[in-house]
Amino acid sequence: MQLTPVGILGTGKYVPERVLTNQELESMVETNDEWIVSRTGIRERRIAAPDQATSDLAYIAAQEALKNAGIGPEDLDLIVVATITPDMSFPSTSCILQTKLGAKKAAAFDISAACSGFIYGLANASNFIATGTYKYALVIGAECLSKITDYEDRNTCILFGDGAGAVVLGPTTEGRGFQSFELGADGSGGELLKIEGGGSRFPSSIETVNGKKHYIYMAGSEVFKFAVRIMGNAAEEALRKAGKTKEDIDLLVPHQANTRIIHSALNRLNLTEDKCMMNLDKYGNMSAASIPVALAEAVESGRIQEGNCIVLVGFGGGLTWGASVINW
Ligand code: UT7
Repeated sequence: MQLTPVGILGTGKYVPERVLTNQELESMVETNDEWIVSRTGIRERRIAAPDQATSDLAYIAAQEALKNAGIGPEDLDLIVVATITPDMSFPSTSCILQTKLGAKKAAAFDISAACSGFIYGLANASNFIATGTYKYALVIGAECLSKITDYEDRNTCILFGDGAGAVVLGPTTEGRGFQSFELGADGSGGELLKIEGGGSRFPSSIETVNGKKHYIYMAGSEVFKFAVRIMGNAAEEALRKAGKTKEDIDLLVPHQANTRIIHSALNRLNLTEDKCMMNLDKYGNMSAASIPVALAEAVESGRIQEGNCIVLVGFGGGLTWGASVINW
């Protein structure tokens, strides 16, 4: 079977207006700007308004991506939203978005792979296009993490922010577009990063809410060790599958969780900071939205040019990881 080459035709992003600074967090929990910046690299993050849900953020990012791709919502065959903060349990956020956009002919589903969700989404959607099932797909990473964060827990509340990034995928010319995907999971580490409440194991109740089971729990230093190991492994494996080497990389777009994690990946890949997109100082960790927002900003600012070799790499709850090599 002849596979169609698949590429990113347009990118878009949206972050809410409200900025939450490290200084403000100092008045909320026992922390300080110096600790947050030196341990994470984060200076501020965006927080959705009380009446904004994930599909609202995704909608604005999607419109920008569609405009940049030069297609309309009615052209879309598929919408995939990667999120751990859906508007509600069901219907899926992608279905809510489908009707907001007026993408009448598009199939729609959500992906739950935490911070790796956007790369899982790209792999899924690009296969539909490569095999000729669909022509155009919208892939989005969108999160309102502020809605599931305990602002009394200094271990987590300093890290997370809200935002949405979107890409339109479609056919491209031979030799361009996605060259490889590397996806993985290790469910044995699931306990390290989770929200226990509100599912079928611990349905929402007064007890689950009093026990704060509706908030993110994270064993930070364990996740840190996993991240340092897996970022380099996943990126190297994606490069190997694409028939490329570290020297070929023009820009690395990593999951924006912690500058120390990103620096360890850069060391492993022999890359200098100028070959890496970083924006977590402004936005913190936006889970599935981190990579597509960073990608959209890299495109907007001209850091990605036609012909560049781009490597996306991320890790997150599950535990999961993903990487992809793109000839832009
Ligand atoms: O997106 C995917 C998932 N998440 C991640 O990628 C997060 C991965 N983990 C991390 O980025 C880091 O583990 C953190 C930034 C979360 C924590 O940094 P760390 O260097 O691993 O710190 P730690 O958890 O080992 O804590 C060191 C100390 C502790 O105090 P003691 O026990 O040594 O007295 C913490 O209580 O820092 C304390 N601490 C804080 N101090 C000030 C923890 N959080 C804070 C805080 N402000 N916000």
